[in-house]
Amino acid sequence: MKHTWQTVPKAIPGIPHPIPYQGSKRQLARLIVSFFPPNTDRLVEPFAGSAAVSMAAAYLGRARRFVLNDLDTALMGLWGGILNQPTELAAKYRRIWRAQLGNERRYYDLIRTRFNEHRRPEDLLYLLARCVKAAIRYNAQGKFNNSPDNRRKGAHPDTMSRHIRGAAALLANHTELHAVDYKMILKKSRSSDLVYMDPPYQGVCNTHNHRYRHAILYDEFVHMLGTLNSRQVPFILSYDGRTDTKRFGRELPKSLALEQIEVPAGRSTQATLLGRNSRTYESLYLSPVLVERLSHSVEQLCEPRHHQRNLFPEVL
Ligand SMILES: C[S@@+](CC[C@H](N)C(=O)[O-])C[C@H]1O[C@@H](n2cnc3c(N)ncnc32)[C@H](O)[C@@H]1O
Repeated sequence: MKHTWQTVPKAIPGIPHPIPYQGSKRQLARLIVSFFPPNTDRLVEPFAGSAAVSMAAAYLGRARRFVLNDLDTALMGLWGGILNQPTELAAKYRRIWRAQLGNERRYYDLIRTRFNEHRRPEDLLYLLARCVKAAIRYNAQGKFNNSPDNRRKGAHPDTMSRHIRGAAALLANHTELHAVDYKMILKKSRSSDLVYMDPPYQGVCNTHNHRYRHAILYDEFVHMLGTLNSRQVPFILSYDGRTDTKRFGRELPKSLALEQIEVPAGRSTQATLLGRNSRTYESLYLSPVLVERLSHSVEQLCEPRHHQRNLFPEVL
């Protein structure tokens, strides 16, 4: 069944976000967390990226423990630095950031070459803070190849340090980190977990820009969702989207019995660039066992009065 969310969700103010990341779910995180069943013990994110949803859930006290996984080992190395050595990581970022001053363009290339050799977390953090659209892009050889955005120096070290320490305070000691294929994580998930999945959009896998090096195969992914359903593991999935004129991603089969919530996500940057005024919508899917465990029906949760009053009065 399809439901429609009425307003464009906003990011939760004050929440730490140490990893600048194109495709982060910061803006939708509060809404996604509103569909968590009460007393969620462990949140599992097999496609964690910058883990905006885990961070929001920790900040709002909506889950006690977390599993963060991403196939990108360098990114998970950065998470390791944030959670296990926040002070050292912040100090290393500060040194790199300061050393670039006056020579930003060449310094970026130097750090990019060093990152491609040694995969150090602080180098990745600096590259993400400075590169075009904060997008992780690798070439066919697995080398980071995004260019610098020469208008930006990257987050000031004081700001970065605040975000790193904030994230560590929220997640360290309650979080497991992994860097494996999502299927391994799903196989280990339990019916007492909540799984949040944000796989790469089908449109950006295996394309010329190599934004993500590994495609998610549709049939395999649908099969995995079916096994979660049969093992009664509740999940929320960010999957496809559309603008007023174009749809991204293949439809999911009806046999999965998912509830779809279509969420307005503002104007499409691409369309704005092309001079059109196209709106974008993202879809969230809730699994049948999750819907069963929610204390309100999905219709109730999507009612406008819930947007204003019942969801997280503490942050509205
Ligand atoms: C859309 S991003 C997730 C963004 C995240 N929700 C956030 O808030 O930042 C998808 C992530 O899936 C990861 N990924 C791609 N293929 C994967 C796979 N087979 N297994 C696990 N992670 C994968 C990518 O490296 C990428 O970081």
